[in-house]
Amino acid sequence: MSFDALLPKPLHVEPGDGVHVLGPGTTVGGEPGVVAWFRRNIGAATGFAFGPGVPAAIEFRVGGVPEGYRIDIGRERVSVLAHDAAAAHHAAQTLRQLLGPDAHRTAPIHSAAWTLPCGVVTDRPRFGWRGCHLDVARHFLPKREVFRFVELMAAHKLNVLHLHLTDDQGWRIEVPRYPKLTEIGAWRWRSMVGRGEVDAFDDRPHGGYYTTDDLREIVAHAAAHHITVVPEVDVPGHSQAAIAAYPELGPGPRLEVWDRWGVNETVLNAQPATVDFYRDVLDHVMDVFPSPVICVGGDEVPTAQWERDSADRAAELGLAHPAHLHGWFLRQVIEHVHANGRQALGWDEILDAGGPLPAGTIVASWRGEEGALRAIEAGHQAVLCPEQHLYFDHRQSDHPDEPIPVGFLRTLDDVHGYEPPAADEVLGVQAQVWTEHLDTPRRVDYAVFPRLAAFAEVAWTEDRHTGFRDRLEHHLARLAALGVEYRPLDGPLPWQTRPRVAGRPR
Ligand code: ACM
Repeated sequence: MSFDALLPKPLHVEPGDGVHVLGPGTTVGGEPGVVAWFRRNIGAATGFAFGPGVPAAIEFRVGGVPEGYRIDIGRERVSVLAHDAAAAHHAAQTLRQLLGPDAHRTAPIHSAAWTLPCGVVTDRPRFGWRGCHLDVARHFLPKREVFRFVELMAAHKLNVLHLHLTDDQGWRIEVPRYPKLTEIGAWRWRSMVGRGEVDAFDDRPHGGYYTTDDLREIVAHAAAHHITVVPEVDVPGHSQAAIAAYPELGPGPRLEVWDRWGVNETVLNAQPATVDFYRDVLDHVMDVFPSPVICVGGDEVPTAQWERDSADRAAELGLAHPAHLHGWFLRQVIEHVHANGRQALGWDEILDAGGPLPAGTIVASWRGEEGALRAIEAGHQAVLCPEQHLYFDHRQSDHPDEPIPVGFLRTLDDVHGYEPPAADEVLGVQAQVWTEHLDTPRRVDYAVFPRLAAFAEVAWTEDRHTGFRDRLEHHLARLAALGVEYRPLDGPLPWQTRPRVAGRPR
């Protein structure tokens, strides 16, 4: 496979002459994590054992380059110098791409020789935060699908999985101290279907949750792929599943886990016991997730409930208006996260929530870029997640058969063309996968791919603007070999459509 087929496009390539041929006797050595990955993945695809050798034919060494990796492919030896284990993993992913699409399969079917083109690749990422958010609250994804998602992210050299674990429609993390969060909060009787003028429901229970051990396993699987899992517990809005489990967290009446889509008027109350409850939840979350960053949500918080019932509480707290309970609530949980040596992340509404945002809070700018610019102005760091470019639940075309078309029209080229503002405080970029309308892993594949490939180039490579379509053609063959049901470039296949289910295009 030619170097021109690599995606994301590497920083620099010097093609050489000839090829390096892999065979049953090829040895692999060096950084143990990447050697294990290589044996498991390239070993499965080729049927070769890739045993140890001194020196090994393919050697991954860590140290010796300031950042990123350098791969030197010669006829006799393949030598990788990587800054760290993550960069060594990126190099291994590059080698897999160079071996061709069949190297992405799980069993050998390839009868021709396995070859790598001779030459030198020098590569490093553009951004440190190359994220993808995944909403497992609106529709649950079984953990095997999360493992697969992690592997697909790693194949695109992404490194942050922002896991949206709680929302109005479902609570997905077991919290041993509060068992009703999952006994009651992890499922709903029915779900809204589409976003039509007239409400439609499916009359089918939906649910699921991850046990503590499942979550530790997800974290470990991600870590083996050099991906950090940033957990999100969304407060003080998007909390009806928790309120259904523990009504004392909410406005009073017993509520069910929400079965609708949209912004919910029901929010957490501002009682001290509610904040204590969430401190406990966050303690468990911080125990399970070693991520230096913990997301506390903060988005889409209607304040009518507090204006109705919490004026006294706001006054007691010295707030000028009950709406400022939004900022007050967030400060309580953010300070708790920070007191535990982590950094809080919140959606950009946290800038408008009333009152100061604690130093060190990171802002996820989703309603465009303005949130990032304002956050930076106020001394914060930002991750660029603009819905105008990077929301993958939004429709990919104006094709009449596009399934449940919601949000902005965001084509593959729109994603690929995204340029975040240049500033040191921009940690990076993040794609969002909200799942109100993605009710199966197959629908997630359709929404995410191949736009995630375009996004991977935004995150990895500044100089990406020529040759993308050619790289993508090669990449689609890799996705097919990986079993990804991506959206074909010319529109959905018949079984990828949802006839008569209304969307809500913007
Ligand atoms: C969001 O889309 N509510 C962050």
